[in-house]
Amino acid sequence: MAVVDGFSHLVLHVTDLDRSEAFYRDIIGLDVIGRDLVAEDGPNSLLAMNTRQRLVLVEVPEVTAIRPNSSTIHHAWLLTIEEFQRTRERMEKAGYDVDDSRAQFRAMGENSMDIYDPDGQRYQIQAYAPEATQVITENTGPIACGHVDDFAVGSVKTFVKGKFCLVRLDEGFLALSRWCTHLNGLLSWKREHWEFYCPMHGARFDRRGLPRPKGRPCPPLRLHPVTIDSAGVVTVDPDTVIKRDDFDASQLTAPPAGARETEAAQAGKGA
Ligand code: FES
Repeated sequence: MAVVDGFSHLVLHVTDLDRSEAFYRDIIGLDVIGRDLVAEDGPNSLLAMNTRQRLVLVEVPEVTAIRPNSSTIHHAWLLTIEEFQRTRERMEKAGYDVDDSRAQFRAMGENSMDIYDPDGQRYQIQAYAPEATQVITENTGPIACGHVDDFAVGSVKTFVKGKFCLVRLDEGFLALSRWCTHLNGLLSWKREHWEFYCPMHGARFDRRGLPRPKGRPCPPLRLHPVTIDSAGVVTVDPDTVIKRDDFDASQLTAPPAGARETEAAQAGKGA
Protein backbone atom coordinates (compact mmCIF):
# COMPACT_ATOMS: atom_id res chain seq x y z
CA MET A 1 0.00 0.00 0.00
CA ALA A 2 1.25 3.47 -0.87
CA VAL A 3 2.30 5.58 2.12
CA VAL A 4 2.41 8.92 0.27
CA ASP A 5 -0.91 10.72 -0.02
CA GLY A 6 0.07 13.64 -2.21
CA PHE A 7 2.88 15.93 -3.22
CA SER A 8 3.84 19.11 -1.43
CA HIS A 9 5.30 21.36 -4.11
CA LEU A 10 6.81 21.50 -7.56
CA VAL A 11 9.84 23.62 -8.46
CA LEU A 12 10.13 24.77 -12.06
CA HIS A 13 12.86 26.66 -13.83
CA VAL A 14 11.72 29.50 -16.05
CA THR A 15 13.64 32.06 -18.09
CA ASP A 16 11.36 35.05 -17.52
CA LEU A 17 9.73 35.17 -14.08
CA ASP A 18 7.20 37.91 -14.91
CA ARG A 19 6.04 36.14 -18.05
CA SER A 20 5.77 32.73 -16.41
CA GLU A 21 4.11 34.05 -13.26
CA ALA A 22 1.46 35.67 -15.47
CA PHE A 23 0.98 32.38 -17.35
CA TYR A 24 0.51 30.27 -14.21
CA ARG A 25 -1.71 32.92 -12.61
CA ASP A 26 -3.90 33.98 -15.54
CA ILE A 27 -3.97 30.87 -17.72
CA ILE A 28 -3.52 27.95 -15.34
CA GLY A 29 -5.39 29.75 -12.53
CA LEU A 30 -3.00 29.55 -9.55
CA ASP A 31 -2.85 32.20 -6.81
CA VAL A 32 0.40 34.13 -6.41
CA ILE A 33 1.52 34.10 -2.77
CA GLY A 34 4.59 36.27 -3.25
CA ARG A 35 8.08 36.77 -4.59
CA ASP A 36 11.38 35.51 -3.18
CA LEU A 37 9.81 33.65 -0.30
CA VAL A 38 11.78 30.43 -0.70
CA ALA A 39 15.50 29.78 -0.32
CA GLU A 40 16.31 29.22 -3.99
CA ASP A 41 19.19 30.73 -5.93
CA GLY A 42 17.68 33.34 -8.19
CA PRO A 43 14.44 35.33 -8.24
CA ASN A 44 11.45 33.15 -7.49
CA SER A 45 7.69 33.22 -7.19
CA LEU A 46 5.53 31.05 -4.93
CA LEU A 47 2.07 30.09 -6.19
CA ALA A 48 -0.74 28.08 -4.61
CA MET A 49 -3.19 25.54 -5.96
CA ASN A 50 -6.65 25.31 -4.42
CA THR A 51 -5.54 22.09 -2.78
CA ARG A 52 -2.54 22.25 -0.46
CA GLN A 53 0.18 22.08 -3.08
CA ARG A 54 2.51 24.86 -4.12
CA LEU A 55 4.37 25.74 -7.29
CA VAL A 56 7.73 27.51 -7.11
CA LEU A 57 9.01 29.27 -10.21
CA VAL A 58 12.73 29.97 -10.17
CA GLU A 59 14.26 32.23 -12.78
CA VAL A 60 17.39 30.85 -14.42
CA PRO A 61 19.31 32.00 -17.52
CA GLU A 62 18.32 28.99 -19.57
CA VAL A 63 15.75 26.21 -19.43
CA THR A 64 16.58 22.94 -21.09
CA ALA A 65 13.38 21.12 -21.90
CA ILE A 66 13.59 17.44 -21.02
CA ARG A 67 13.20 15.53 -24.26
CA PRO A 68 12.14 18.51 -26.41
CA ASN A 69 9.03 17.95 -28.55
CA SER A 70 8.26 14.80 -26.63
CA SER A 71 4.76 14.31 -25.33
CA THR A 72 5.91 11.75 -22.79
CA ILE A 73 7.44 13.95 -20.08
CA HIS A 74 4.97 16.49 -18.75
CA HIS A 75 2.95 17.58 -15.74
CA ALA A 76 -0.79 17.13 -15.50
CA TRP A 77 -3.35 19.18 -13.59
CA LEU A 78 -6.58 17.52 -12.51
CA LEU A 79 -9.62 19.80 -12.41
CA THR A 80 -13.32 19.40 -11.88
CA ILE A 81 -15.28 19.33 -15.12
CA GLU A 82 -16.62 22.87 -14.47
CA GLU A 83 -13.08 24.16 -13.85
CA PHE A 84 -11.92 22.37 -16.99
CA GLN A 85 -14.55 24.10 -19.13
CA ARG A 86 -13.71 27.49 -17.64
CA THR A 87 -10.00 26.86 -18.20
CA ARG A 88 -10.59 25.92 -21.83
CA GLU A 89 -12.57 29.12 -22.41
CA ARG A 90 -9.86 31.18 -20.70
CA MET A 91 -7.15 29.60 -22.82
CA GLU A 92 -9.00 30.03 -26.07
CA LYS A 93 -9.71 33.65 -25.20
CA ALA A 94 -6.02 34.17 -24.52
CA GLY A 95 -5.23 32.84 -27.99
CA TYR A 96 -3.96 29.38 -27.08
CA ASP A 97 -4.47 26.64 -29.61
CA VAL A 98 -6.04 24.07 -27.28
CA ASP A 99 -5.83 20.47 -28.39
CA ASP A 100 -5.77 16.92 -27.06
CA SER A 101 -2.88 15.07 -28.69
CA ARG A 102 -4.33 11.68 -27.66
CA ALA A 103 -8.02 12.33 -28.22
CA GLN A 104 -8.58 8.96 -29.88
CA PHE A 105 -7.40 7.14 -26.73
CA ARG A 106 -9.67 8.90 -24.25
CA ALA A 107 -12.21 6.90 -22.28
CA MET A 108 -15.80 8.05 -22.02
CA GLY A 109 -16.05 11.26 -19.99
CA GLU A 110 -12.29 11.71 -19.90
CA ASN A 111 -11.41 15.27 -20.89
CA SER A 112 -7.89 16.35 -21.60
CA MET A 113 -6.06 19.16 -23.34
CA ASP A 114 -2.44 20.03 -23.88
CA ILE A 115 -0.76 23.35 -23.39
CA TYR A 116 2.83 24.59 -23.30
CA ASP A 117 4.15 27.15 -20.86
CA PRO A 118 6.28 30.09 -22.09
CA ASP A 119 9.43 27.94 -21.86
CA GLY A 120 7.91 25.12 -23.88
CA GLN A 121 7.18 22.76 -20.98
CA ARG A 122 4.16 20.62 -21.70
CA TYR A 123 1.12 20.50 -19.45
CA GLN A 124 -1.86 18.26 -19.64
CA ILE A 125 -5.09 19.47 -18.11
CA GLN A 126 -7.54 16.75 -17.19
CA ALA A 127 -11.06 16.35 -15.85
CA TYR A 128 -13.46 13.45 -15.54
CA ALA A 129 -17.13 14.02 -16.31
CA PRO A 130 -19.74 11.87 -14.52
CA GLU A 131 -20.07 9.53 -17.53
CA ALA A 132 -16.49 8.34 -16.83
CA THR A 133 -17.72 6.27 -13.90
CA GLN A 134 -21.43 5.76 -14.45
CA VAL A 135 -22.83 2.37 -15.34
CA ILE A 136 -23.75 2.40 -19.02
CA THR A 137 -26.68 0.56 -20.59
CA GLU A 138 -28.08 0.85 -24.12
CA ASN A 139 -31.71 -0.16 -23.48
CA THR A 140 -31.53 -2.92 -26.06
CA GLY A 141 -33.76 -5.34 -24.20
CA PRO A 142 -32.77 -9.02 -23.87
CA ILE A 143 -30.60 -10.36 -26.72
CA ALA A 144 -30.86 -13.94 -28.00
CA CYS A 145 -27.26 -14.98 -28.55
CA GLY A 146 -27.65 -18.44 -30.10
CA HIS A 147 -27.95 -22.07 -29.11
CA VAL A 148 -25.86 -23.53 -26.33
CA ASP A 149 -24.14 -25.78 -28.85
CA ASP A 150 -22.95 -22.76 -30.84
CA PHE A 151 -20.50 -21.90 -28.07
CA ALA A 152 -17.47 -24.12 -27.65
CA VAL A 153 -16.18 -24.45 -24.12
CA GLY A 154 -13.48 -21.80 -23.69
CA SER A 155 -14.91 -19.52 -26.36
CA VAL A 156 -15.51 -15.78 -26.00
CA LYS A 157 -17.96 -14.10 -28.36
CA THR A 158 -18.20 -10.33 -28.66
CA PHE A 159 -21.60 -8.68 -29.13
CA VAL A 160 -21.65 -5.16 -30.56
CA LYS A 161 -25.27 -4.50 -29.67
CA GLY A 162 -25.46 -4.37 -25.89
CA LYS A 163 -21.64 -4.13 -25.59
CA PHE A 164 -20.97 -7.44 -23.84
CA CYS A 165 -19.01 -10.64 -24.33
CA LEU A 166 -20.45 -14.07 -23.79
CA VAL A 167 -17.90 -16.40 -22.23
CA ARG A 168 -18.33 -20.16 -22.17
CA LEU A 169 -16.40 -21.68 -19.30
CA ASP A 170 -16.34 -25.32 -18.18
CA GLU A 171 -19.23 -24.89 -15.78
CA GLY A 172 -21.40 -22.44 -17.68
CA PHE A 173 -21.87 -19.05 -19.31
CA LEU A 174 -20.83 -15.61 -18.15
CA ALA A 175 -21.94 -12.38 -19.86
CA LEU A 176 -19.34 -9.67 -19.21
CA SER A 177 -19.96 -5.98 -19.81
CA ARG A 178 -17.35 -4.54 -22.16
CA TRP A 179 -17.30 -1.22 -20.31
CA CYS A 180 -14.00 -1.04 -18.44
CA THR A 181 -14.43 -0.67 -14.69
CA HIS A 182 -11.65 1.90 -14.57
CA LEU A 183 -13.20 4.76 -16.56
CA ASN A 184 -15.54 3.21 -19.12
CA GLY A 185 -13.15 2.51 -21.94
CA LEU A 186 -14.53 -0.13 -24.31
CA LEU A 187 -12.74 -3.47 -23.92
CA SER A 188 -11.74 -5.85 -26.70
CA TRP A 189 -11.18 -9.57 -26.39
CA LYS A 190 -7.57 -10.40 -27.34
CA ARG A 191 -7.68 -14.05 -28.17
CA GLU A 192 -3.91 -14.31 -28.65
CA HIS A 193 -3.41 -13.34 -24.99
CA TRP A 194 -6.62 -14.86 -23.58
CA GLU A 195 -7.60 -11.58 -22.00
CA PHE A 196 -9.77 -8.50 -22.32
CA TYR A 197 -7.79 -5.37 -23.01
CA CYS A 198 -8.71 -1.72 -22.55
CA PRO A 199 -6.90 0.55 -25.01
CA MET A 200 -7.50 3.62 -22.86
CA HIS A 201 -5.09 2.99 -19.98
CA GLY A 202 -4.14 -0.62 -20.51
CA ALA A 203 -6.34 -2.52 -18.02
CA ARG A 204 -6.46 -6.28 -18.60
CA PHE A 205 -9.01 -8.83 -17.42
CA ASP A 206 -9.16 -12.61 -17.63
CA ARG A 207 -12.10 -14.65 -18.96
CA ARG A 208 -13.86 -14.48 -15.62
CA GLY A 209 -13.62 -10.70 -15.82
CA LEU A 210 -11.05 -10.43 -13.03
CA PRO A 211 -8.23 -7.88 -13.39
CA ARG A 212 -4.87 -9.37 -14.24
CA PRO A 213 -2.62 -9.36 -11.12
CA LYS A 214 0.06 -7.07 -12.56
CA GLY A 215 -2.28 -4.78 -14.49
CA ARG A 216 -4.17 -1.67 -13.46
CA PRO A 217 -6.10 -2.40 -10.26
CA CYS A 218 -9.81 -2.20 -11.18
CA PRO A 219 -12.96 -3.88 -9.88
CA PRO A 220 -13.99 -7.04 -11.79
CA LEU A 221 -15.96 -6.51 -14.99
CA ARG A 222 -19.69 -6.15 -14.45
CA LEU A 223 -22.04 -8.98 -15.36
CA HIS A 224 -25.35 -9.26 -17.19
CA PRO A 225 -27.87 -12.01 -16.40
CA VAL A 226 -27.79 -15.07 -18.69
CA THR A 227 -30.76 -17.38 -19.15
CA ILE A 228 -31.05 -20.59 -21.16
CA ASP A 229 -34.50 -21.80 -22.18
CA SER A 230 -35.66 -25.38 -22.57
CA ALA A 231 -34.72 -25.33 -26.28
CA GLY A 232 -31.15 -24.38 -25.33
CA VAL A 233 -31.28 -20.75 -26.52
CA VAL A 234 -28.94 -18.47 -24.57
CA THR A 235 -30.27 -14.99 -23.81
CA VAL A 236 -28.45 -12.08 -22.20
CA ASP A 237 -30.04 -8.98 -20.67
CA PRO A 238 -27.47 -6.18 -21.11
CA ASP A 239 -29.80 -3.62 -19.54
CA THR A 240 -29.37 -5.30 -16.16
CA VAL A 241 -25.92 -4.73 -14.69
CA ILE A 242 -24.49 -6.70 -11.78
CA LYS A 243 -21.50 -5.33 -9.90
CA ARG A 244 -19.31 -7.74 -7.98
CA ASP A 245 -16.12 -7.85 -5.92
CA ASP A 246 -14.84 -11.21 -7.08
CA PHE A 247 -15.70 -14.26 -9.13
CA ASP A 248 -17.51 -17.28 -7.80
CA ALA A 249 -19.17 -20.20 -9.53
CA SER A 250 -22.67 -19.01 -8.63
CA GLN A 251 -22.26 -16.27 -11.28
CA LEU A 252 -22.23 -18.89 -14.05
CA THR A 253 -25.36 -20.05 -15.84
CA ALA A 254 -25.01 -23.75 -16.40
CA PRO A 255 -26.15 -25.26 -19.71
CA PRO A 256 -28.88 -27.92 -19.58
CA ALA A 257 -27.77 -31.41 -18.60
CA GLY A 258 -26.38 -33.22 -21.62
CA ALA A 259 -24.97 -30.10 -23.22
CA ARG A 260 -22.26 -29.79 -20.60
CA GLU A 261 -18.82 -30.64 -21.80
CA THR A 262 -15.53 -29.70 -20.23
CA GLU A 263 -12.85 -27.64 -21.98
CA ALA A 264 -10.42 -30.54 -21.50
CA ALA A 265 -12.87 -32.94 -23.15
CA GLN A 266 -13.30 -30.62 -26.11
CA ALA A 267 -9.57 -30.21 -26.47
CA GLY A 268 -9.24 -34.01 -26.44
CA LYS A 269 -11.89 -34.29 -29.13
CA GLY A 270 -10.02 -31.87 -31.39
CA ALA A 271 -6.67 -33.66 -30.90
S1 FES B 1 -10.71 3.15 -19.01
FE1 FES B 1 -8.80 3.26 -18.05
S2 FES B 1 -7.99 1.26 -18.31
FE2 FES B 1 -9.94 1.16 -19.15
